[in-house]
Amino acid sequence: MVTRSHVTATPAFRNTQLRDDGVYEAANTPVERLTWGQRVFFNDLSARLYVISREGSFARLLNGHDSVEDYPRLVRSLELDEDSTVLDVPCGQGNVTEALARAVPRGRVIGLDLSNNMLRLARRRLERAGLLDRATLLRANAQQLPFEDASIDAISACAGLHLFPDPDGAISEMRRVLRPGGRVAGLVFIRQTQPVRRLLQAAVKRVSGMISFDFDELGRRFEARGFTDWQWHRAGIIGYFQARAA
Ligand SMILES: C[S@@+](CC[C@H](N)C(=O)[O-])C[C@H]1O[C@@H](n2cnc3c(N)ncnc32)[C@H](O)[C@@H]1O
Repeated sequence: MVTRSHVTATPAFRNTQLRDDGVYEAANTPVERLTWGQRVFFNDLSARLYVISREGSFARLLNGHDSVEDYPRLVRSLELDEDSTVLDVPCGQGNVTEALARAVPRGRVIGLDLSNNMLRLARRRLERAGLLDRATLLRANAQQLPFEDASIDAISACAGLHLFPDPDGAISEMRRVLRPGGRVAGLVFIRQTQPVRRLLQAAVKRVSGMISFDFDELGRRFEARGFTDWQWHRAGIIGYFQARAA
C-alpha cells in the first residue's frame, strides 16, 4: 500500500486517480489498437530487453553507445528551474524521468506512459534513487494528455513519437499543455537515405508500425503546431531535437 506522502498530487492533473501501486490513472484512458511496436512494452520480457538495450554494457555492445551519456545535454536543453514542473512522455522505464527529477529538487516530474509494465519499472527505479518525493507516475495516453492548458514548464519526449499512431496529434497535445516559452526536447529515429537502410526501415515499419522522421519535415510539423526555434542533431540512427512553445 502506498501512502500519499510518497506521491504528491500535481495540481495540473485532471480526472485522474491514485491507484494502490502508487501510479495515477487517467480516467477513460483511450487506448487505440496497439501496433506491434507498442506491444513490445506490454510484455515483461521484451520490455526488459528494451531496457538493457538503452543503458549499460549490453547497450554499449549493441549500439556502441550508452544513452546515459545523453541525458545531461537533454536535461540542459529543457532550461529547467529548481521548481519546474516537467513532463516525461513517454517515460517508459523511468531512465530520463530520473535524470529530470534530479534537476528539479523543488519541482515535479510527471512520468507518463500507457504500459503498466513500464510504469512499474519506472516506479522501482525512482524509488531506488530516492526520488519519489518529486516524481509522479501516470498511466495515460500521450495522444490525450490529462493536464490543463499551459500547465507544464517543459517536456521531454524521448523515443515516443515514432511509436504513436498519430504523432501530429501528440505534438499538438504537447503544445496545448506547455506554457508559452516552455521547451520540448527528445529523440526519434531518423529516416535513412541509404537504399538498403531505407528498405530495412520500411520493413520495420510494416511489421511494427514504427515510423522514422526526416528532421526538416519534423521541424515543420512542430512549427505548424505552435513551436519555434527548431534544432536537432544526429547520433547514429537516432536524432535529438528541441523546440520552444511560441
Ligand atoms: C521506446 S520506450 C521509451 C522509453 C524512454 N523514454 C526511453 O527513452 O528509453 C516507448 C514507450 O512509449 C510507450 N507508449 C507507446 N504508445 C504510447 C501512447 N500512446 N501513450 C503513452 N505511452 C505510449 C510505451 O509503453 C513505451 O514505454
